[in-house]
Amino acid sequence: MGQSHNIEICLGSSCFSRGNREVVHIIKEYLRKNHLDDKVMLRGARCMNHCSEGPVIIINGKTFFSIDTQDIEKILERELA
Ligand code: FES
Repeated sequence: MGQSHNIEICLGSSCFSRGNREVVHIIKEYLRKNHLDDKVMLRGARCMNHCSEGPVIIINGKTFFSIDTQDIEKILERELA
């Protein structure tokens, strides 16, 4: 069984300083708690050219803008279900 999900998190300087610095930790913790580490490929990405709509993450090809540390768990629950 391979990795069935892909998460790309923008670690460009704008997204990083606007929240993805925390979001990357929240995602890692979520994957660990839910035993999803080997099901999900998590990768940092460079600026995705959507800085003004950031922070940005892409889950399974779907782009999420203006990510908030409050919403991220709900998004993960829905998208990784
Ligand atoms: S830094 Fe994330 S879109 Fe530019």
